[in-house]
Amino acid sequence: MTCNVGRMKFHDETELSMSTQEKISDKSSKLPRKIWPSTLQKMKEAREKIAVVTAYDFLTASLLEEAGIPVVLVGDSLGNVIAGLENTLQVTMDQMVYHTKIAKRGISKSLLIADMPYLSYQVNSLDAVRNAGRFIQEGGADAIKIEGGYSVLKDVLPAMHRAQIPVMGHLGLTPQSINLMGGYKIQGKSNEEKKILLEDAQFLEASGCFAVVLEGMNAELADSISQKLRIPTIGIGAGSGTDGQVLVFHDMMGFYEKVPRFVRRYGNARNMILEGLSSYLEDLNTGKFPAAEETYS
Ligand code: KIV
Repeated sequence: MTCNVGRMKFHDETELSMSTQEKISDKSSKLPRKIWPSTLQKMKEAREKIAVVTAYDFLTASLLEEAGIPVVLVGDSLGNVIAGLENTLQVTMDQMVYHTKIAKRGISKSLLIADMPYLSYQVNSLDAVRNAGRFIQEGGADAIKIEGGYSVLKDVLPAMHRAQIPVMGHLGLTPQSINLMGGYKIQGKSNEEKKILLEDAQFLEASGCFAVVLEGMNAELADSISQKLRIPTIGIGAGSGTDGQVLVFHDMMGFYEKVPRFVRRYGNARNMILEGLSSYLEDLNTGKFPAAEETYS
């Protein structure tokens, strides 16, 4: 016997649950084909803006791919966003590998980039390659992202290259340096800082990075770095002159009451969820849920 429950078809009333794949079985991505690190270069050359959004789990990643987001980042921002930590410094490799693995299950075409957490690459190049390799081997990532310029990565990047691991750089307001920077502050204010940031960006390009995130810097500087580099730049809090933008999914979808100034909200998840939960409580208390159609006879 076939019956309809909402959009889902059950062939037997005794079938009580659906597999996760069944729940998203009508998933079709707007992306025509697999995105590779080299695809981003072509997008820059074609002046096509590159959209990057974070995901830390299967469902979010599959929604991003379905919507046609070309790049999905498993950021260590998961420490702030879903673990409730004050900063990203306590996020570990094991946590990042786990979240990469579960995000990967939702993705077949988007480029999946995993973020190297604090102390996974600063100790030595051997550690860095082993840890980056875990993202590729265990997590199913296509590439990794790493914070810092020449002083942090001069030995690490050649080692990554030898191990054939595609790397996205990250400069400017690098959250793993929060203690040295004295908080989350806009970077590149003085001429000396601007010069170092530009040199670091050029070093990342020369060392084989396929793209670089520019975070928390004034728009003119990000614009000028973007024009000088051949590889694409992805901005966050760095104005509109970069080749793409990255946003944290939970910030842009309105899960949080307050977000930084550079975030634009494209949803109101918090209110939607609170309203839904309040209706559920009311229905339960007034006996409206579960009704006959939600009950097995
Ligand atoms: O961890 C993260 O999500 C990031 C992006 C915000 C660039 O590093």
